[in-house]
Amino acid sequence: MKPLIDTFDRVHDNLRISVTDRCNIRCFYCMPEEGVKFQPREEILNFEEIERFVRIAVTLGVRKLRLTGGEPLLRKGLAKLVQRLGAIEGIQDMALTTNGVLLAEQAQTLYDAGLRRLNVHLDTLDRERFQLITRRDDFDRVMRGIDEAQRVGFTTVKINAVAVKNLVEPDIVPLARFGRERGIEIRYIEFMPLDAQGIWDHGKVLLTDEMLGMLTREIGPLNVIQDQDPRAPATEFEFADGKGRVGFIASVSKPFCLNCNRIRLTADGHFRYCLFAVEETDIRTLLRDGSPDEAIAEAVRASVKSKWIGHQINTAKFVPPPRPMYSIGG
Ligand code: 5AD
Ligand code: SF4
Repeated sequence: MKPLIDTFDRVHDNLRISVTDRCNIRCFYCMPEEGVKFQPREEILNFEEIERFVRIAVTLGVRKLRLTGGEPLLRKGLAKLVQRLGAIEGIQDMALTTNGVLLAEQAQTLYDAGLRRLNVHLDTLDRERFQLITRRDDFDRVMRGIDEAQRVGFTTVKINAVAVKNLVEPDIVPLARFGRERGIEIRYIEFMPLDAQGIWDHGKVLLTDEMLGMLTREIGPLNVIQDQDPRAPATEFEFADGKGRVGFIASVSKPFCLNCNRIRLTADGHFRYCLFAVEETDIRTLLRDGSPDEAIAEAVRASVKSKWIGHQINTAKFVPPPRPMYSIGG
């Protein structure tokens, strides 16, 4: 079948699947402190439905999967899903993004199910600041989760850190040092307007160039890694002494929409052509009303065909998506 190409000639082969909108912590740049309304269980896709969707997506050229949330490790039986999706012919790569709180308990099971790549979300190495950001006191558990993931033998463990100005400046360098010691790439993600409370504004984004400056001054020179996958969202650098890498997801200061190869499925079965999309396509209804695979494939194709050029964060036209991050899937 023809690959998923949109009107800007972007080929979409990378599917991000949110397996739950629930989370066990409350990062302020994503969730409100209290009163989060989670989707009712019956609206969440079951494993058969997710698997069927992925099989259809593979016929449309999808080759890479990432499981996200909310917090995916809260989904019961997740390892089973990992194993089933990994066994689908055509899937070449699967990764998972977690906040790490439950990772120590689940790392071995996930590894045994075939998972080899993990991103752990961690903004600081300081327990108090962790609590300030996540409104939970789970720093030690996340650190144990990272230890365990490395002990179990995951091929890649990366750390995602959200870059918020006037907040995480003290964490940028310590995280990079930790990454250098542990063989973990730190990925700094510019704060994006996806929070539940609408607190984002341009002035709250710690920009990639500022972080690059800090790292260069305090640790040493960084060289851009050559031959990077041009469609990967991060720009990656290596410390000139050969010890360690860092990556930057400069969604705000250097939008990379024109290289985007990503599509998304929310936990409640809605298809999105962009993290910031305002419209989405209801796949769950099709999965449940007896529609044939071809109808689902056609819905996906139609959505990709209508994909916009990009998020326009830097223009007056920007409209934040109607769902916050935990409900879209990061
Ligand atoms: N801006 C940027 N990144 C965010 N994340 C969550 N909320 C935001 C935001 N407002 C990141 C988390 C998580 C990933 C899925 O998305 O670090 O690792
Ligand atoms: Fe949970 Fe991730 Fe949102 Fe933090 S960013 S509240 S870990 S879903």
